[in-house]
Amino acid sequence: MANNVFLNGEYIAGDQARVSVFDRGFIFGDGIYEVIPVYGGRPFRLPQHLQRLQSNLNAIHISNPHSIAEWSDITSTLIKEIDAPDQAIYLQITRGVAPRDHAYPDNTTPTVFAYSKALGYPNEAELNNGVSAITTADIRWRRCDIKAIALLGNVILRQQAVEQGAAEAILLHNNHVTEGAASNIFIVKDNILYTPPKNEQILPGITRDLVVNLATTNNIECREASVPVDLLRSADEVWLTSSTKEVLPVVRIDSVDVGNGKPGPLHKQIVKLYQAYKADFRNGKVQ
Ligand code: PDD
Repeated sequence: MANNVFLNGEYIAGDQARVSVFDRGFIFGDGIYEVIPVYGGRPFRLPQHLQRLQSNLNAIHISNPHSIAEWSDITSTLIKEIDAPDQAIYLQITRGVAPRDHAYPDNTTPTVFAYSKALGYPNEAELNNGVSAITTADIRWRRCDIKAIALLGNVILRQQAVEQGAAEAILLHNNHVTEGAASNIFIVKDNILYTPPKNEQILPGITRDLVVNLATTNNIECREASVPVDLLRSADEVWLTSSTKEVLPVVRIDSVDVGNGKPGPLHKQIVKLYQAYKADFRNGKVQ
């Protein structure tokens, strides 16, 4: 097996990688992660992902084990291990190994783990036909802005969706939409795009930021504003965004069609803009 895993400074085969059972990631879910898409062999929005990684580390008081240049080296080495131009890098840092005690121990060495895997082009059928979603109460904790590896809430919520034949759970808090179990959300109503504002209830998605940016620079009115559930239910279009799914149209929510039950015109426009941006990135026109 190729040395496709980075673990604590070494490149090793995935089936040889070992972590202590006393690692606080294993015991407490005490760590954070990133998922970074790779197009044409280059990590997409790497500075933004590394910036979010740094904010997350700051939030939980772990000092960054690597410089930006080192992260860049690690990601390019892992990318070369995989025989595919488009990939997704997974990168995780935990507080490390220590006797079990909730409070942060002194002087632990963080555990650093990363690998990459091939990423198929976002599923054509899903992109063209859209997916179903359910709505459900956002049962997660109150710091969803931290990309924590402790994802039990998200896991339970996504499972709920899957058991009802849906691709994603759209989460509701106080009659407002927060995000998906593993995605951010956009709503189109009367040609205006709405997405919930960045706060402690949602993950500040890198894809979300790019979509807001592409929309506003292309004269699509975009409001980062609280989205009441009534707006969701009367939406003309609903999209989910994430690094691995890009911009996915939702055509049914709780078994009711969104708009006419097909991906809408603004979705087609944003996908075109997103793919053009990716193409520019692949051939080095944008960084
Ligand atoms: N998840 N919100 C949540 C709860 C997420 O887990 C994700 C991504 C997003 C979108 O963020 P970004 O655009 O930066 O990928 C929003 C990743 C892909 C995952 O857990 O696999």
